[in-house]
Amino acid sequence: MRPVAVITGANRGIGRATAEGLARLGLHIVVCARRKSAADEVVAGILEEGGAASAFALEVTDRAQVAALAAHIDQAHGRWDVLVNNAGLLPDAPGHQDLLSARNEDLLQGFETNTLGALAMMQVALPRMAAGGYGRVVNLSTGMAGLSEMGGGHLGYRLSKVALNALTRIAHAEASAGVLVNSVCPGWVKTEMGGPNAPRSVADGARGVIWAATLPEDGPSGGFFRDGKPIPW
Ligand SMILES: NC(=O)c1ccc[n+]([C@@H]2O[C@H](COP(=O)([O-])OP(=O)(O)OC[C@H]3O[C@@H](n4cnc5c(N)ncnc54)[C@H](OP(=O)(O)O)[C@@H]3O)[C@@H](O)[C@H]2O)c1
Repeated sequence: MRPVAVITGANRGIGRATAEGLARLGLHIVVCARRKSAADEVVAGILEEGGAASAFALEVTDRAQVAALAAHIDQAHGRWDVLVNNAGLLPDAPGHQDLLSARNEDLLQGFETNTLGALAMMQVALPRMAAGGYGRVVNLSTGMAGLSEMGGGHLGYRLSKVALNALTRIAHAEASAGVLVNSVCPGWVKTEMGGPNAPRSVADGARGVIWAATLPEDGPSGGFFRDGKPIPW
């Protein structure tokens, strides 16, 4: 039976490239996307290439949908090997991006998806990984959340990802044997979020995510990585 990888926001960008890359390594991919039709399209591409995948409609801020996903995994697979918390957004509205103009509504939107969405996913994934004695959790973070290189602007995004990095450390501290939890920065990647001027392709961005999703038994946990190398918090 193939190992099962769940990827959120897998309909485009880095999430999609990660789904396709992990499928090529022989995992069964549960392609999660807010729109089921968008997930279906990614699944069709994976199946065409000879991989294994299924689609699930998932808005990560909706606890009922997260619970339904967990029930689906139990029933359809009975195992949960990899979680990639990829779904994310840039919440800061134009004109409200610096400290003086930041709006609570934007900050809260950032936390809801980028932090609490990932937390909800870990809350259902980690017990199932513990039961299987194996798990790889990858939280998509960013150098913009590194305290040591913290700059101005994009407050909601930065704060939500700093908190996500804290969740990586907490999950690592509480994780069972065999479960590795890491934050990964994909670099600046050409996607809807990264924009057209980004220097990296989605394949470049996904490479380090796939690395963290397939770490060997003695691989690192509780770390922050880019391209498979540690970066400062
Ligand atoms: N691109 C970069 O340069 C860069 C750099 C550092 C970190 N990252 C991180 O990498 C991850 C992927 O980024 P990307 O560049 O591939 O972004 P993207 O192309 O904008 O894709 C974002 C994905 O997240 C999904 N999403 C957003 N909010 C969601 C929610 N509440 N529930 C479920 N899905 C949701 C989107 O779904 P819809 O299609 O339905 O909107 C989409 O599939 C993000 O966490 C981002 O912060 C990106």
